[in-house]
Amino acid sequence: MSVIDRFEIHEHDVLVIGAGGAGLRAAIEASANGVSVGLVCKSLLGKAHTVMAEGGIAAAISNVDKHDDWKTHFKDTIRGGKFLNNWKMAELHAKEAPERVLELERWGALFDRTQDGKILQRPFGGHTCKRLCHVGDRTGLEMIRTLQDKGIHMGIEVYMECTITKLLKDNGKTSGAFGYWRENGRFVIFKAKAIVLATGGVGKAYKVTSNSWEYTSDGQILAYNAGAEILDAEFVQFHPTGMIWPPGVIGILVTEAVRGEGGILTNKDGFRFMEKYDPERMELSTRDVVARSIYMENKEGRGTPHGGAFLDISHKGADYIKKKLPSMYHQFKELADVDITKGPMEVGPTCHYSMGGIRVDGETTATSVPGLFAAGEVAAGLHGANRLGGNSLSDLLVFGCRSGLYAAEYAKKSSSNLKIDEQEIQLAEKEMIRFFENNGENPYTVHKDLQELMQNYVGIFRTESDLQYAIKELVKITDRAKKVKIDGSRMYNPGWHMAYDLQNMIQYSQFITESAIRRKESRGAHSRIDFPETDPECSKWNNVIKMNDDGSMNIRQEPLSQMSEELKKLFEEKELVKK
Ligand code: FUM
Repeated sequence: MSVIDRFEIHEHDVLVIGAGGAGLRAAIEASANGVSVGLVCKSLLGKAHTVMAEGGIAAAISNVDKHDDWKTHFKDTIRGGKFLNNWKMAELHAKEAPERVLELERWGALFDRTQDGKILQRPFGGHTCKRLCHVGDRTGLEMIRTLQDKGIHMGIEVYMECTITKLLKDNGKTSGAFGYWRENGRFVIFKAKAIVLATGGVGKAYKVTSNSWEYTSDGQILAYNAGAEILDAEFVQFHPTGMIWPPGVIGILVTEAVRGEGGILTNKDGFRFMEKYDPERMELSTRDVVARSIYMENKEGRGTPHGGAFLDISHKGADYIKKKLPSMYHQFKELADVDITKGPMEVGPTCHYSMGGIRVDGETTATSVPGLFAAGEVAAGLHGANRLGGNSLSDLLVFGCRSGLYAAEYAKKSSSNLKIDEQEIQLAEKEMIRFFENNGENPYTVHKDLQELMQNYVGIFRTESDLQYAIKELVKITDRAKKVKIDGSRMYNPGWHMAYDLQNMIQYSQFITESAIRRKESRGAHSRIDFPETDPECSKWNNVIKMNDDGSMNIRQEPLSQMSEELKKLFEEKELVKK
Protein backbone atom coordinates (compact mmCIF):
# COMPACT_ATOMS: atom_id res chain seq x y z
CA MET A 1 0.00 0.00 0.00
CA SER A 2 1.43 3.42 -0.93
CA VAL A 3 1.49 6.34 1.49
CA ILE A 4 -1.31 8.03 -0.46
CA ASP A 5 -3.64 5.03 -0.19
CA ARG A 6 -3.98 5.68 3.53
CA PHE A 7 -5.92 8.85 2.82
CA GLU A 8 -9.38 9.77 1.65
CA ILE A 9 -8.95 11.22 -1.86
CA HIS A 10 -11.25 13.41 -3.99
CA GLU A 11 -10.49 14.47 -7.52
CA HIS A 12 -11.66 17.47 -9.56
CA ASP A 13 -10.43 19.45 -12.51
CA VAL A 14 -10.74 22.68 -10.55
CA LEU A 15 -10.66 22.97 -6.78
CA VAL A 16 -11.89 26.23 -5.28
CA ILE A 17 -10.75 26.89 -1.73
CA GLY A 18 -13.03 29.34 0.06
CA ALA A 19 -16.77 29.76 -0.38
CA GLY A 20 -17.39 33.49 0.01
CA GLY A 21 -18.47 35.60 -2.95
CA ALA A 22 -15.27 35.08 -4.96
CA GLY A 23 -15.08 31.33 -4.35
CA LEU A 24 -18.73 30.73 -5.19
CA ARG A 25 -18.56 32.89 -8.31
CA ALA A 26 -15.36 31.10 -9.40
CA ALA A 27 -16.94 27.69 -8.86
CA ILE A 28 -20.02 28.67 -10.87
CA GLU A 29 -17.93 29.93 -13.78
CA ALA A 30 -15.59 26.95 -13.82
CA SER A 31 -18.55 24.60 -13.74
CA ALA A 32 -20.28 26.55 -16.55
CA ASN A 33 -17.13 25.96 -18.58
CA GLY A 34 -17.57 22.22 -18.45
CA VAL A 35 -15.07 21.03 -15.84
CA SER A 36 -15.67 19.17 -12.61
CA VAL A 37 -15.49 21.52 -9.62
CA GLY A 38 -14.94 20.95 -5.92
CA LEU A 39 -15.54 23.76 -3.46
CA VAL A 40 -13.86 23.51 -0.08
CA CYS A 41 -14.79 25.74 2.85
CA LYS A 42 -13.37 26.00 6.31
CA SER A 43 -16.75 26.85 7.74
CA LEU A 44 -20.32 26.05 6.70
CA LEU A 45 -21.52 27.04 3.26
CA GLY A 46 -23.14 30.47 3.46
CA LYS A 47 -21.00 31.70 6.30
CA ALA A 48 -18.44 34.06 4.81
CA HIS A 49 -17.02 37.52 5.50
CA THR A 50 -18.78 38.56 2.29
CA VAL A 51 -21.90 39.05 4.41
CA MET A 52 -20.02 41.83 6.22
CA ALA A 53 -20.09 43.95 3.08
CA GLU A 54 -23.53 45.03 4.11
CA GLY A 55 -24.14 48.35 2.42
CA GLY A 56 -23.90 47.46 -1.24
CA ILE A 57 -22.12 46.43 -4.44
CA ALA A 58 -20.40 49.21 -6.35
CA ALA A 59 -21.27 49.12 -10.04
CA ALA A 60 -21.80 51.99 -12.48
CA ILE A 61 -25.24 50.93 -13.69
CA SER A 62 -26.33 54.60 -13.45
CA ASN A 63 -29.90 54.00 -12.35
CA VAL A 64 -29.83 56.89 -9.90
CA ASP A 65 -26.98 59.13 -11.07
CA LYS A 66 -27.43 59.08 -14.82
CA HIS A 67 -23.98 60.48 -15.56
CA ASP A 68 -22.16 57.61 -13.82
CA ASP A 69 -20.13 55.34 -16.08
CA TRP A 70 -17.21 52.90 -15.87
CA LYS A 71 -14.67 55.67 -16.34
CA THR A 72 -15.97 57.56 -13.31
CA HIS A 73 -15.94 54.37 -11.26
CA PHE A 74 -12.41 53.63 -12.45
CA LYS A 75 -11.21 57.11 -11.47
CA ASP A 76 -12.82 56.89 -8.03
CA THR A 77 -11.18 53.50 -7.43
CA ILE A 78 -7.73 54.71 -8.48
CA ARG A 79 -8.02 57.92 -6.48
CA GLY A 80 -9.27 55.98 -3.44
CA GLY A 81 -6.37 53.54 -3.83
CA LYS A 82 -3.93 56.46 -4.04
CA PHE A 83 -2.67 55.44 -7.47
CA LEU A 84 -1.11 52.23 -6.25
CA ASN A 85 -3.80 50.05 -7.82
CA ASN A 86 -3.18 47.55 -10.57
CA TRP A 87 -4.79 49.75 -13.23
CA LYS A 88 -5.71 46.81 -15.48
CA MET A 89 -7.71 45.26 -12.65
CA ALA A 90 -9.36 48.57 -11.85
CA GLU A 91 -10.32 49.00 -15.50
CA LEU A 92 -11.77 45.49 -15.83
CA HIS A 93 -13.54 45.84 -12.50
CA ALA A 94 -15.24 49.11 -13.44
CA LYS A 95 -16.21 47.83 -16.89
CA GLU A 96 -17.50 44.41 -15.83
CA ALA A 97 -19.15 45.13 -12.47
CA PRO A 98 -22.48 46.26 -14.03
CA GLU A 99 -22.94 43.01 -15.97
CA ARG A 100 -21.99 40.92 -12.92
CA VAL A 101 -24.63 42.73 -10.84
CA LEU A 102 -27.35 42.35 -13.48
CA GLU A 103 -26.45 38.68 -13.79
CA LEU A 104 -26.82 38.32 -10.01
CA GLU A 105 -30.29 39.82 -10.33
CA ARG A 106 -31.16 37.34 -13.09
CA TRP A 107 -30.05 34.56 -10.74
CA GLY A 108 -32.55 35.73 -8.14
CA ALA A 109 -31.00 38.47 -5.99
CA LEU A 110 -33.73 40.81 -4.75
CA PHE A 111 -32.32 44.35 -4.74
CA ASP A 112 -34.03 47.42 -3.33
CA ARG A 113 -35.85 49.33 -6.08
CA THR A 114 -36.11 52.83 -7.53
CA GLN A 115 -39.60 54.29 -8.08
CA ASP A 116 -39.51 52.98 -11.64
CA GLY A 117 -38.52 49.46 -10.59
CA LYS A 118 -34.78 49.49 -11.27
CA ILE A 119 -31.99 48.47 -8.88
CA LEU A 120 -31.64 51.25 -6.31
CA GLN A 121 -28.20 52.75 -5.64
CA ARG A 122 -26.94 54.70 -2.63
CA PRO A 123 -23.91 56.91 -1.93
CA PHE A 124 -20.80 55.54 -0.18
CA GLY A 125 -17.47 57.00 0.84
CA GLY A 126 -15.13 57.98 -1.99
CA HIS A 127 -17.66 57.21 -4.73
CA THR A 128 -18.57 60.39 -6.57
CA CYS A 129 -21.92 58.95 -7.70
CA LYS A 130 -24.75 57.05 -6.04
CA ARG A 131 -23.36 53.70 -7.08
CA LEU A 132 -24.00 51.08 -4.41
CA CYS A 133 -26.64 48.55 -5.52
CA HIS A 134 -28.08 47.24 -2.29
CA VAL A 135 -30.48 45.08 -0.38
CA GLY A 136 -31.12 47.21 2.72
CA ASP A 137 -28.05 46.57 4.85
CA ARG A 138 -27.87 42.88 3.98
CA THR A 139 -26.35 43.02 0.50
CA GLY A 140 -23.49 40.57 1.10
CA LEU A 141 -25.92 38.10 2.60
CA GLU A 142 -28.23 38.29 -0.40
CA MET A 143 -25.26 37.88 -2.70
CA ILE A 144 -24.07 34.75 -0.91
CA ARG A 145 -27.59 33.32 -0.82
CA THR A 146 -27.99 33.85 -4.57
CA LEU A 147 -24.59 32.44 -5.53
CA GLN A 148 -25.02 29.50 -3.21
CA ASP A 149 -28.38 28.56 -4.74
CA LYS A 150 -26.97 28.90 -8.24
CA GLY A 151 -23.87 26.85 -7.42
CA ILE A 152 -25.76 24.04 -5.76
CA HIS A 153 -28.14 23.78 -8.70
CA MET A 154 -25.18 23.52 -11.05
CA GLY A 155 -23.99 20.42 -9.24
CA ILE A 156 -20.84 21.82 -7.67
CA GLU A 157 -19.55 19.45 -5.03
CA VAL A 158 -19.13 21.20 -1.69
CA TYR A 159 -16.76 20.05 1.07
CA MET A 160 -17.63 21.88 4.27
CA GLU A 161 -15.67 22.31 7.50
CA CYS A 162 -12.43 21.33 5.84
CA THR A 163 -9.16 23.21 6.38
CA ILE A 164 -6.50 23.05 3.68
CA THR A 165 -2.98 23.09 5.11
CA LYS A 166 -0.80 22.59 2.05
CA LEU A 167 -0.94 23.03 -1.70
CA LEU A 168 0.60 20.16 -3.65
CA LYS A 169 2.67 20.39 -6.79
CA ASP A 170 3.95 18.04 -9.45
CA ASN A 171 6.99 19.29 -11.35
CA GLY A 172 6.28 22.83 -10.26
CA LYS A 173 2.63 22.71 -11.34
CA THR A 174 -0.44 22.64 -9.11
CA SER A 175 -1.59 19.07 -8.51
CA GLY A 176 -3.85 19.28 -5.46
CA ALA A 177 -4.23 20.13 -1.81
CA PHE A 178 -3.88 18.45 1.56
CA GLY A 179 -6.14 19.20 4.51
CA TYR A 180 -8.25 17.86 7.33
CA TRP A 181 -11.89 17.63 8.31
CA ARG A 182 -12.41 20.00 11.21
CA GLU A 183 -14.99 17.72 12.77
CA ASN A 184 -13.01 14.50 13.12
CA GLY A 185 -9.45 15.59 12.33
CA ARG A 186 -9.02 13.02 9.57
CA PHE A 187 -6.72 14.03 6.74
CA VAL A 188 -7.92 14.34 3.15
CA ILE A 189 -6.27 14.83 -0.23
CA PHE A 190 -7.81 16.71 -3.14
CA LYS A 191 -6.31 16.10 -6.56
CA ALA A 192 -6.84 19.01 -8.92
CA LYS A 193 -5.34 20.38 -12.12
CA ALA A 194 -6.10 23.94 -11.14
CA ILE A 195 -6.83 25.61 -7.82
CA VAL A 196 -8.56 28.91 -7.10
CA LEU A 197 -7.75 30.42 -3.73
CA ALA A 198 -10.60 32.57 -2.40
CA THR A 199 -10.03 32.35 1.33
CA GLY A 200 -10.42 36.03 2.25
CA GLY A 201 -8.42 38.15 4.63
CA VAL A 202 -6.28 38.38 7.70
CA GLY A 203 -8.43 40.28 10.21
CA LYS A 204 -8.04 37.78 13.04
CA ALA A 205 -4.44 38.86 13.50
CA TYR A 206 -5.88 42.06 15.04
CA LYS A 207 -7.65 42.47 18.34
CA VAL A 208 -10.51 44.64 17.13
CA THR A 209 -11.87 43.25 13.90
CA SER A 210 -15.07 42.79 11.95
CA ASN A 211 -13.73 39.45 10.69
CA SER A 212 -14.91 36.15 12.10
CA TRP A 213 -12.72 33.22 13.14
CA GLU A 214 -12.04 31.96 9.62
CA TYR A 215 -9.99 35.00 8.54
CA THR A 216 -6.51 33.88 9.40
CA SER A 217 -4.63 34.50 6.10
CA ASP A 218 -4.66 30.82 5.16
CA GLY A 219 -4.76 31.37 1.41
CA GLN A 220 -1.98 33.95 1.44
CA ILE A 221 0.34 31.57 3.29
CA LEU A 222 -0.66 28.49 1.28
CA ALA A 223 0.24 30.44 -1.86
CA TYR A 224 3.48 31.83 -0.40
CA ASN A 225 4.58 28.37 0.69
CA ALA A 226 3.82 27.10 -2.81
CA GLY A 227 6.08 29.77 -4.34
CA ALA A 228 3.65 32.60 -5.15
CA GLU A 229 4.32 36.27 -4.40
CA ILE A 230 2.69 38.56 -1.84
CA LEU A 231 2.01 42.16 -2.83
CA ASP A 232 1.67 45.32 -0.70
CA ALA A 233 0.87 43.59 2.59
CA GLU A 234 1.24 46.86 4.53
CA PHE A 235 -2.21 48.06 3.46
CA VAL A 236 -4.73 46.91 6.05
CA GLN A 237 -8.07 48.67 6.14
CA PHE A 238 -9.66 49.83 9.36
CA HIS A 239 -13.36 50.37 8.74
CA PRO A 240 -14.21 53.55 10.66
CA THR A 241 -17.36 52.21 12.24
CA GLY A 242 -17.41 49.09 14.32
CA MET A 243 -19.29 48.59 17.57
CA ILE A 244 -17.27 49.56 20.64
CA TRP A 245 -19.66 48.70 23.41
CA PRO A 246 -20.47 46.38 25.22
CA PRO A 247 -17.17 44.45 25.39
CA GLY A 248 -18.52 41.21 23.93
CA VAL A 249 -19.43 42.85 20.60
CA ILE A 250 -16.40 45.08 20.04
CA GLY A 251 -15.43 45.19 16.37
CA ILE A 252 -18.74 44.05 14.87
CA LEU A 253 -19.37 46.08 11.73
CA VAL A 254 -21.64 49.09 11.61
CA THR A 255 -22.24 49.43 7.92
CA GLU A 256 -21.05 52.46 5.99
CA ALA A 257 -24.61 52.56 4.68
CA VAL A 258 -25.51 54.36 7.92
CA ARG A 259 -23.37 57.26 6.70
CA GLY A 260 -24.52 56.66 3.12
CA GLU A 261 -28.10 57.19 4.28
CA GLY A 262 -27.21 60.43 6.07
CA GLY A 263 -25.65 59.38 9.40
CA ILE A 264 -23.66 62.10 11.17
CA LEU A 265 -20.48 61.64 13.18
CA THR A 266 -19.86 63.80 16.25
CA ASN A 267 -17.39 63.84 19.10
CA LYS A 268 -18.17 64.03 22.81
CA ASP A 269 -18.73 67.80 22.52
CA GLY A 270 -21.33 67.34 19.79
CA PHE A 271 -18.95 68.72 17.15
CA ARG A 272 -19.30 67.27 13.64
CA PHE A 273 -15.57 66.69 13.43
CA MET A 274 -15.36 65.57 9.78
CA GLU A 275 -15.71 69.31 8.98
CA LYS A 276 -12.13 69.58 10.14
CA TYR A 277 -10.65 66.56 8.37
CA ASP A 278 -12.53 66.52 5.04
CA PRO A 279 -14.98 69.43 4.78
CA GLU A 280 -15.99 68.52 1.24
CA ARG A 281 -16.88 64.88 1.64
CA MET A 282 -17.58 64.92 5.39
CA GLU A 283 -18.85 61.50 6.61
CA LEU A 284 -18.55 60.16 3.06
CA SER A 285 -14.82 60.62 2.92
CA THR A 286 -12.77 57.48 2.27
CA ARG A 287 -12.44 54.94 5.08
CA ASP A 288 -8.77 55.63 5.77
CA VAL A 289 -9.55 59.31 6.41
CA VAL A 290 -12.65 58.71 8.57
CA ALA A 291 -10.92 56.02 10.65
CA ARG A 292 -7.93 58.29 11.31
CA SER A 293 -10.24 61.19 12.18
CA ILE A 294 -12.04 59.17 14.86
CA TYR A 295 -8.69 58.00 16.18
CA MET A 296 -7.38 61.58 16.38
CA GLU A 297 -10.50 62.87 18.14
CA ASN A 298 -9.88 60.26 20.83
CA LYS A 299 -6.17 60.87 21.03
CA GLU A 300 -6.84 64.55 21.63
CA GLY A 301 -9.38 63.84 24.36
CA ARG A 302 -12.65 64.37 22.49
CA GLY A 303 -13.69 60.73 22.23
CA THR A 304 -16.94 59.22 23.48
CA PRO A 305 -17.16 57.32 26.80
CA HIS A 306 -15.97 54.04 25.27
CA GLY A 307 -13.28 55.55 23.08
CA GLY A 308 -14.98 56.26 19.74
CA ALA A 309 -17.42 58.66 18.11
CA PHE A 310 -21.19 59.10 18.03
CA LEU A 311 -22.95 58.13 14.81
CA ASP A 312 -26.50 59.40 14.56
CA ILE A 313 -29.13 58.55 11.96
CA SER A 314 -32.16 59.09 14.21
CA HIS A 315 -33.11 62.32 12.37
CA LYS A 316 -34.23 60.12 9.45
CA GLY A 317 -37.11 58.71 11.48
CA ALA A 318 -37.94 55.22 12.66
CA ASP A 319 -39.77 53.99 9.52
CA TYR A 320 -36.94 55.00 7.22
CA ILE A 321 -34.27 53.47 9.45
CA LYS A 322 -36.09 50.19 9.90
CA LYS A 323 -36.59 49.94 6.14
CA LYS A 324 -33.11 50.96 5.04
CA LEU A 325 -31.00 49.65 7.91
CA PRO A 326 -32.96 46.79 9.44
CA SER A 327 -29.91 44.81 10.54
CA MET A 328 -28.32 47.82 12.22
CA TYR A 329 -31.57 48.50 14.06
CA HIS A 330 -31.72 44.94 15.41
CA GLN A 331 -27.96 44.69 15.99
CA PHE A 332 -27.90 47.70 18.31
CA LYS A 333 -31.21 46.86 19.99
CA GLU A 334 -30.25 43.29 20.74
CA LEU A 335 -26.52 43.57 21.37
CA ALA A 336 -26.20 47.01 22.99
CA ASP A 337 -29.74 47.87 24.10
CA VAL A 338 -29.56 51.05 21.99
CA ASP A 339 -32.50 52.20 19.86
CA ILE A 340 -30.85 53.87 16.84
CA THR A 341 -34.16 55.39 15.76
CA LYS A 342 -34.06 57.49 18.94
CA GLY A 343 -30.40 58.34 19.47
CA PRO A 344 -26.80 57.84 18.38
CA MET A 345 -24.67 54.71 18.26
CA GLU A 346 -21.14 54.67 19.62
CA VAL A 347 -18.64 53.50 17.00
CA GLY A 348 -14.90 53.20 16.39
CA PRO A 349 -12.45 51.74 13.86
CA THR A 350 -12.32 47.99 13.33
CA CYS A 351 -9.90 45.97 11.22
CA HIS A 352 -11.98 45.02 8.19
CA TYR A 353 -10.02 44.26 5.03
CA SER A 354 -6.63 43.59 3.56
CA MET A 355 -5.77 45.40 0.34
CA GLY A 356 -2.53 43.43 0.05
CA GLY A 357 -2.36 39.73 -0.68
CA ILE A 358 -1.38 37.28 -3.39
CA ARG A 359 0.01 38.85 -6.51
CA VAL A 360 -2.07 37.90 -9.55
CA ASP A 361 -2.21 38.61 -13.24
CA GLY A 362 -4.74 41.42 -13.68
CA GLU A 363 -6.73 39.64 -16.38
CA THR A 364 -6.54 35.94 -15.58
CA THR A 365 -6.00 36.05 -11.79
CA ALA A 366 -3.16 33.55 -12.29
CA THR A 367 -0.44 33.58 -9.64
CA SER A 368 3.20 32.86 -10.51
CA VAL A 369 2.60 29.16 -9.69
CA PRO A 370 1.25 27.32 -12.76
CA GLY A 371 -2.33 26.22 -12.15
CA LEU A 372 -2.81 28.39 -9.07
CA PHE A 373 -5.29 31.28 -9.25
CA ALA A 374 -6.54 33.70 -6.59
CA ALA A 375 -9.55 36.01 -6.35
CA GLY A 376 -11.25 38.30 -3.88
CA GLU A 377 -9.66 39.61 -0.70
CA VAL A 378 -6.90 37.01 -0.73
CA ALA A 379 -5.59 38.56 -3.96
CA ALA A 380 -4.00 41.99 -4.21
CA GLY A 381 -3.90 44.77 -6.76
CA LEU A 382 -7.34 46.14 -7.47
CA HIS A 383 -7.69 48.39 -4.43
CA GLY A 384 -4.19 49.82 -4.16
CA ALA A 385 -3.55 51.55 -0.84
CA ASN A 386 -7.17 51.79 0.23
CA ARG A 387 -10.38 50.10 -0.88
CA LEU A 388 -13.61 52.00 -1.42
CA GLY A 389 -16.63 50.52 0.32
CA GLY A 390 -18.73 48.36 -1.97
CA ASN A 391 -15.80 47.67 -4.29
CA SER A 392 -15.16 44.37 -2.57
CA LEU A 393 -18.46 42.78 -3.56
CA SER A 394 -17.97 43.81 -7.18
CA ASP A 395 -14.34 42.61 -6.95
CA LEU A 396 -15.57 39.20 -5.80
CA LEU A 397 -17.98 38.91 -8.71
CA VAL A 398 -15.71 40.24 -11.44
CA PHE A 399 -12.52 38.44 -10.46
CA GLY A 400 -14.26 35.40 -9.03
CA CYS A 401 -15.81 34.93 -12.45
CA ARG A 402 -12.50 35.50 -14.23
CA SER A 403 -10.61 33.10 -11.98
CA GLY A 404 -13.20 30.37 -12.56
CA LEU A 405 -13.00 30.85 -16.29
CA TYR A 406 -9.21 30.86 -16.51
CA ALA A 407 -8.78 28.01 -14.04
CA ALA A 408 -11.20 25.91 -16.13
CA GLU A 409 -9.31 26.77 -19.31
CA TYR A 410 -6.03 25.88 -17.66
CA ALA A 411 -7.43 22.59 -16.37
CA LYS A 412 -8.73 21.62 -19.79
CA LYS A 413 -5.26 22.00 -21.28
CA SER A 414 -3.49 20.34 -18.40
CA SER A 415 -2.34 16.71 -18.27
CA SER A 416 -4.55 14.16 -16.56
CA ASN A 417 -1.50 12.41 -15.20
CA LEU A 418 -0.58 14.83 -12.46
CA LYS A 419 0.99 12.98 -9.57
CA ILE A 420 0.72 13.44 -5.85
CA ASP A 421 4.16 13.45 -4.29
CA GLU A 422 4.30 10.98 -1.36
CA GLN A 423 7.00 12.95 0.41
CA GLU A 424 4.94 16.11 0.29
CA ILE A 425 2.03 14.24 1.86
CA GLN A 426 4.18 12.76 4.60
CA LEU A 427 5.56 16.20 5.38
CA ALA A 428 2.11 17.81 5.37
CA GLU A 429 0.85 15.18 7.79
CA LYS A 430 3.86 15.57 10.06
CA GLU A 431 3.48 19.35 10.12
CA MET A 432 -0.03 18.96 11.52
CA ILE A 433 0.60 16.12 13.95
CA ARG A 434 3.70 17.63 15.54
CA PHE A 435 1.58 19.95 17.70
CA PHE A 436 0.54 16.97 19.81
CA GLU A 437 4.18 16.29 20.67
CA ASN A 438 4.80 19.81 22.02
CA ASN A 439 5.03 20.89 25.59
CA GLY A 440 4.61 24.65 25.34
CA GLU A 441 1.75 26.98 26.17
CA ASN A 442 -1.87 27.27 25.13
CA PRO A 443 -2.32 28.51 21.50
CA TYR A 444 -5.03 30.96 22.55
CA THR A 445 -2.60 32.85 24.80
CA VAL A 446 -0.21 33.23 21.88
CA HIS A 447 -3.05 34.38 19.62
CA LYS A 448 -4.14 37.00 22.15
CA ASP A 449 -0.59 38.35 22.37
CA LEU A 450 -0.33 38.47 18.57
CA GLN A 451 -3.58 40.42 18.35
CA GLU A 452 -2.45 42.91 21.02
CA LEU A 453 0.86 43.39 19.25
CA MET A 454 -0.62 43.97 15.80
CA GLN A 455 -3.35 46.24 17.15
CA ASN A 456 -0.99 48.40 19.20
CA TYR A 457 2.13 48.48 17.04
CA VAL A 458 1.04 47.83 13.44
CA GLY A 459 -2.39 49.47 13.54
CA ILE A 460 -3.90 52.66 12.14
CA PHE A 461 -0.84 54.81 12.88
CA ARG A 462 2.69 53.42 12.62
CA THR A 463 6.23 54.51 13.46
CA GLU A 464 9.64 53.02 12.73
CA SER A 465 10.27 52.22 16.39
CA ASP A 466 6.86 50.55 16.83
CA LEU A 467 7.33 48.49 13.68
CA GLN A 468 10.85 47.45 14.68
CA TYR A 469 9.55 46.47 18.10
CA ALA A 470 6.78 44.42 16.43
CA ILE A 471 9.34 42.59 14.30
CA LYS A 472 11.32 41.58 17.38
CA GLU A 473 8.19 40.47 19.21
CA LEU A 474 6.99 38.52 16.19
CA VAL A 475 10.19 36.46 16.32
CA LYS A 476 9.39 35.52 19.92
CA ILE A 477 5.74 34.85 19.10
CA THR A 478 6.79 32.64 16.17
CA ASP A 479 8.91 30.60 18.52
CA ARG A 480 6.13 30.30 21.09
CA ALA A 481 3.62 29.32 18.39
CA LYS A 482 5.88 26.50 17.18
CA LYS A 483 5.81 25.01 20.66
CA VAL A 484 2.13 25.34 21.55
CA LYS A 485 0.76 22.32 23.33
CA ILE A 486 -2.44 20.64 22.23
CA ASP A 487 -4.35 18.32 24.55
CA GLY A 488 -6.74 15.63 23.45
CA SER A 489 -6.99 14.07 20.02
CA ARG A 490 -7.65 15.41 16.53
CA MET A 491 -11.39 14.91 17.07
CA TYR A 492 -13.34 18.17 17.58
CA ASN A 493 -10.23 19.97 18.72
CA PRO A 494 -10.42 23.78 18.33
CA GLY A 495 -7.05 24.21 20.06
CA TRP A 496 -5.41 22.19 17.29
CA HIS A 497 -7.16 24.32 14.64
CA MET A 498 -5.90 27.44 16.35
CA ALA A 499 -2.35 26.05 16.48
CA TYR A 500 -2.41 25.77 12.69
CA ASP A 501 -4.15 29.11 12.09
CA LEU A 502 -1.62 30.85 14.31
CA GLN A 503 1.28 29.93 12.04
CA ASN A 504 -0.48 31.63 9.13
CA MET A 505 -1.47 34.72 11.07
CA ILE A 506 2.02 35.22 12.46
CA GLN A 507 3.69 34.75 9.09
CA TYR A 508 1.35 37.22 7.42
CA SER A 509 1.78 39.66 10.30
CA GLN A 510 5.49 39.58 9.52
CA PHE A 511 4.68 40.43 5.90
CA ILE A 512 2.51 43.37 6.99
CA THR A 513 5.18 44.69 9.34
CA GLU A 514 8.17 44.22 7.03
CA SER A 515 6.28 45.90 4.19
CA ALA A 516 5.17 48.74 6.48
CA ILE A 517 8.79 49.36 7.50
CA ARG A 518 9.83 49.75 3.88
CA ARG A 519 7.06 52.18 2.97
CA LYS A 520 8.46 55.35 4.46
CA GLU A 521 5.51 57.57 3.63
CA SER A 522 1.80 57.82 4.42
CA ARG A 523 -0.55 56.60 1.71
CA GLY A 524 -4.11 55.35 1.99
CA ALA A 525 -4.51 52.95 4.87
CA HIS A 526 -0.80 53.08 5.72
CA SER A 527 -0.12 56.06 8.01
CA ARG A 528 3.38 56.70 9.32
CA ILE A 529 3.58 59.32 12.07
CA ASP A 530 7.28 59.66 11.26
CA PHE A 531 6.58 60.07 7.51
CA PRO A 532 3.23 61.91 7.44
CA GLU A 533 3.40 63.00 3.80
CA THR A 534 2.65 61.04 0.65
CA ASP A 535 5.88 60.71 -1.28
CA PRO A 536 5.46 60.70 -5.10
CA GLU A 537 8.57 58.51 -5.36
CA CYS A 538 6.76 55.81 -3.39
CA SER A 539 3.91 55.68 -5.92
CA LYS A 540 6.32 54.06 -8.32
CA TRP A 541 6.71 50.68 -6.68
CA ASN A 542 4.97 47.83 -4.90
CA ASN A 543 6.35 45.74 -2.06
CA VAL A 544 6.74 42.16 -3.28
CA ILE A 545 7.47 39.23 -0.97
CA LYS A 546 8.60 35.79 -2.07
CA MET A 547 10.18 32.82 -0.38
CA ASN A 548 13.87 32.24 -1.09
CA ASP A 549 15.07 28.75 -1.97
CA ASP A 550 16.36 28.32 1.58
CA GLY A 551 12.93 29.11 3.03
CA SER A 552 13.79 32.64 4.14
CA MET A 553 11.72 35.65 3.16
CA ASN A 554 12.72 37.98 0.36
CA ILE A 555 11.16 41.42 0.14
CA ARG A 556 11.84 43.76 -2.73
CA GLN A 557 10.38 46.89 -4.28
CA GLU A 558 9.24 46.36 -7.83
CA PRO A 559 8.23 49.09 -10.30
CA LEU A 560 4.50 49.55 -10.70
CA SER A 561 3.22 48.80 -14.18
CA GLN A 562 2.46 52.03 -16.06
CA MET A 563 -1.15 52.97 -16.72
CA SER A 564 -2.05 53.04 -20.43
CA GLU A 565 -1.92 56.48 -22.09
CA GLU A 566 -5.64 56.24 -22.80
CA LEU A 567 -6.49 55.82 -19.14
CA LYS A 568 -4.01 58.47 -18.01
CA LYS A 569 -6.07 61.00 -19.95
CA LEU A 570 -8.89 60.51 -17.42
CA PHE A 571 -6.81 62.23 -14.74
CA GLU A 572 -5.48 65.72 -14.45
CA GLU A 573 -1.83 66.14 -15.28
CA LYS A 574 -1.05 67.52 -11.82
CA GLU A 575 -2.66 64.52 -10.14
CA LEU A 576 -0.42 62.14 -12.02
CA VAL A 577 2.70 64.12 -11.17
CA LYS A 578 1.88 64.60 -7.49
CA LYS A 579 0.60 61.14 -6.78
O1 FUM B 1 -19.85 49.07 5.55
C1 FUM B 1 -20.12 48.15 4.81
O2 FUM B 1 -21.27 47.87 4.52
C2 FUM B 1 -19.01 47.38 4.23
C3 FUM B 1 -18.87 47.32 2.93
C4 FUM B 1 -17.60 46.90 2.33
O3 FUM B 1 -16.67 46.57 3.06
O4 FUM B 1 -17.50 46.93 1.10
